[in-house]
Amino acid sequence: MHQEIDLDKIDINTEPPIEEPARQYYYMAKCREWVREFERKNGRRPTAFTQTFGCQMNARDSEKLQGILEQAGFEEAGDEKADFVLYNTCTVRENANQRVYGRLGYLNTLKKKNPHMLIALCGCMMQEPEVVDKIRKSYRFVDIIFGTHNIFKLAELMDRRLEERKMVVDIWRDTEQIVEELPAQRKFPFKSGVNIMFGCNNFCSYCIVPYVRGRERSRKPEDIIAEIKQLARDGVVEVMLLGQNVNSYGKNLETPVTFAGLLRQVEEIEGIERIRFMTSHPKDLSEELIQVMAGSKKICRHLHLPVQSGSSRILKAMNRRYTKEQYLDLVDRIRAAVPDISLTTDIIVGFPGETEEDFLETMDVVEKVGFDSAFTFIYSRRTGTPAASMEDQVPEEVVKERFDRLLARVQELSARVCARDLHTTQKVLVESLDDHLEGYVTGRLGNNTVVHFPGDASLIGTIVPVYLEESKGFYYMGTAAGV
Ligand code: SAH
Ligand code: SF4
Ligand code: F3S
Repeated sequence: MHQEIDLDKIDINTEPPIEEPARQYYYMAKCREWVREFERKNGRRPTAFTQTFGCQMNARDSEKLQGILEQAGFEEAGDEKADFVLYNTCTVRENANQRVYGRLGYLNTLKKKNPHMLIALCGCMMQEPEVVDKIRKSYRFVDIIFGTHNIFKLAELMDRRLEERKMVVDIWRDTEQIVEELPAQRKFPFKSGVNIMFGCNNFCSYCIVPYVRGRERSRKPEDIIAEIKQLARDGVVEVMLLGQNVNSYGKNLETPVTFAGLLRQVEEIEGIERIRFMTSHPKDLSEELIQVMAGSKKICRHLHLPVQSGSSRILKAMNRRYTKEQYLDLVDRIRAAVPDISLTTDIIVGFPGETEEDFLETMDVVEKVGFDSAFTFIYSRRTGTPAASMEDQVPEEVVKERFDRLLARVQELSARVCARDLHTTQKVLVESLDDHLEGYVTGRLGNNTVVHFPGDASLIGTIVPVYLEESKGFYYMGTAAGV
C-alpha cells in the first residue's frame, strides 16, 4: 500500500536515507528532478513503456514498476518508441526467453534513432547468471539489469545509471525483505492483483521458478487486509490473491495463519464483491479451504488446479507429491461441496520418460474432470532443474503429436463445459468496451468466462445481471437483465 508522500518536499541534496521505503522515495524525487530537466531541454516529458512477459505475479510487479515511473513524472507510452523501455521478463519456458531476445534486436535499432533512450531488463530471466552474461557480452546497449527481488529499487538504479553513465547490473540471489508501501499503477480501476506471498519452496523437478523467485515468504495478514481495504476505498470490487502456491500461505509466519483463514478476513471487507486466487497446488488444498469456498458469497466459483500430468509415475518424477487418484478424489470432494465450480488446469506434455501409456493417463484425467479450460504446455528443459538432466527426453515429434491430440480433446470438452450456464442470468463484471462490436461491452462471469452484451462505457467496473443467450464455445453473447 502506498502512502501519500509529496516528493517535492524531499531534500535531494542530502544523503539518501538508509531505510526503506524512504530511500526509494528519495530516489523517485531525484528522478523527478531529472524528468523536469529533460522537459526544460526538450519541451516535453520523457515517455516510458513497460512490457510484461510472464504470469500474473510478473504483471503485478509491472504495476509497481509503472507506479514508480509515474511518480517520477514519466508519461506512459503505448509502445517501445519511448525514452525509457522496461521489459519485465519470464523464463518459465524457453520460448518466453526467445521472445525477449527477439525484441532486443528491435530495441537496438530504436535506440540508434533516439540517443536519450534507456533500456532496462528485470524479472525472472535476469535471475539466471548465464542470461546476464549473455546480455553483458552481446547486448551492450542495455542500460539497467535487475532481478525479481529488488524491483522496488527501480528509481535508485535509474539514478545510478544516469550518474555513472554505464550499464548498471544489480541482481540479488534471494531476499528476506518485503518492501511495502510503494506506489503502484493499476491497469484496471475496478480490479487488482494482491501479492499474498512471494517465492516457492516446492521444487517441482521441471520448474525454474523456485530458483528465480527464491524461498517462500508470506506477507502478514494485517498488511494484506490493509492493502485490500485501501483498494476497496479506491473503487476496486474484485481482488485476485496471488502466490505460486496460495495453499501454503502463512505457514512460516510468526503467528501462522491458514489461507482459508486469510480468505475469511478478506470476505469481511466492505466493497470487495469478488475474490479470486491463484495458484492452488493440489497437495496443499485443505478441507478448510473447501468449506470456506462453499460458504462464501464472494469467492468466485473457480479454481485453477494445475494437474501437470495424469500419470502417477510421472507425477512422482515431477515431485508434485500427489497421485492421479488423489487428484481425482480432491476434485470429487470440491465438486461435492461446491457443485457449480469451474475447474481449470495446467498440463505439461513430454516430461522426460513420458510414455504413450503415461500420456493416456493424462487424457483420462481430462475426460474424467471435464475442465473448463486447460493450459497445455510442451515440456521445456530449464537449465539447473533436476528434470533437465534426466534421461529419456522425449523426441520432439512424439511430443508434438501428443500435444495436438491433447489440445484437440481439451477444446472439444471445454466448449461443452463452458456452455453450462446458457439460458440463465448471471452476474457479469464489466471490464471494457467490446473490441469488435460497437455498442457492446465485455465482462466476465464469476467463473471467469467472457460475456459480450449491449451496453456503454458507464457500465465499466460495475456488476450487471446478464441473460446468457448464446454460447460461442469459450464465451457468451447476452443481454442485460432486470434484477
Ligand atoms: N505455481 C504454479 C505454476 C507456475 S508456472 C503451480 O504450481 O501450479 C505455470 C505453469 O507453467 C505450470 O503450472 C506448468 O504447467 C508450466 N511449466 C512450468 N515449468 C515448465 C517447463 N519447464 N516446461 C513446460 N511447462 C512448464
Ligand atoms: Fe513451479 Fe511447482 Fe513452484 Fe509451481 S509449485 S512454481 S510448478 S516449483
Ligand atoms: Fe515466468 Fe517468473 Fe511468472 S518465470 S511464470 S514470470 S514467476
